[in-house]
Amino acid sequence: MIEELKQIGCESLEAISELESLESLEQFRVSVLGKKGKLSTLLKGMGKLSAEERPKVGQVANEWKNKIEAALGAHKEKLEVAALEQKILNEKIDVTLPSLKSYTGTLHPLTQATRQIVQSLSRLGFDVTTGPEIETEYLNFDSVNIPETHPAREMQDTFFMGEGVVLRTHTSPVQMRTMRSQSFPLRILCPGAVYRADNDATHSPFFHQIEGLWVDHGIRMSDLKGTLLFFAKETFGSETEIRLRPSFFPFVEPGVEVDVTCPFCASGSGKGKGPCKVCKDTGWIEILGAGMVHPELFKHAGYDDPKISGFAFGIGIERISMLLNGIPDLRLFYRGDVRFLNQF
Ligand code: PHE
Repeated sequence: MIEELKQIGCESLEAISELESLESLEQFRVSVLGKKGKLSTLLKGMGKLSAEERPKVGQVANEWKNKIEAALGAHKEKLEVAALEQKILNEKIDVTLPSLKSYTGTLHPLTQATRQIVQSLSRLGFDVTTGPEIETEYLNFDSVNIPETHPAREMQDTFFMGEGVVLRTHTSPVQMRTMRSQSFPLRILCPGAVYRADNDATHSPFFHQIEGLWVDHGIRMSDLKGTLLFFAKETFGSETEIRLRPSFFPFVEPGVEVDVTCPFCASGSGKGKGPCKVCKDTGWIEILGAGMVHPELFKHAGYDDPKISGFAFGIGIERISMLLNGIPDLRLFYRGDVRFLNQF
């Protein structure tokens, strides 16, 4: 029996050194030292030995068992170290590889222009007010003194949504809504999308406006002019000057169109040094419409105070953004092309 023990022991020690994985090591351990393993099976025959032989055989069996266990333990450690090294090798990072670019979104240039305008005019005490894009014909037209017969109210110019309901053609109805729900003094800015049935390189059926309204006792044309000059200098630079030309809008009287000195060639003089595509060598660029609020609007607003007056102005946000960023085509704003949008 001692011979057989020696054989199992020697064979085992040899086999262990050749095992290549932790799984085969465990299988091997069970096959020799497990309950049904070779060693246990052999030792079951111990009962047949004589009383003197039994402790001797027992001792030898123990010695082999310890040796095998030690060999298993040592080999296991070796395999574990090798596995770890392999893992580290597999997970090695190549620091010379180019990194993955992360893309950050940007605010749409129209949002940026809106925010810039709001930010500068809010320094004069203007608050932002918004309203619905689907509007009643009354608030969009009648209440701001645009009569039934006005060409703007024809099917070709306005999107009619149903009986008495339109897509707002300007943000003036927001000003009217505010006057009808609040008392003056009022100093508000109404930014938002507006809709007109127009579509070419310089007109889009969907565009953005920001309109301003200041209503109080004793508001004069000079207040309007001062506000617009402030806006122009804030937006296009401190050299900028403005010029008011008489014009007609049903909701104001008198009404004006406002030009700024061309920021590209005239630098405040209003005399273009040309050649300039933006101002076509005139030195001036039209940027907005404005005027003193028509008394008719105060009636619709429910303000019956003889001393009340106010001014209003309407700015096209696309136009401002195009000028500030040198954007040549209005339609670029609405295509959602990231190559365009990423530039801002
Ligand atoms: N509501 C005008 C428009 O959409 C803009 C404007 C507002 C003009 C206020 C003058 C005064 O054309």
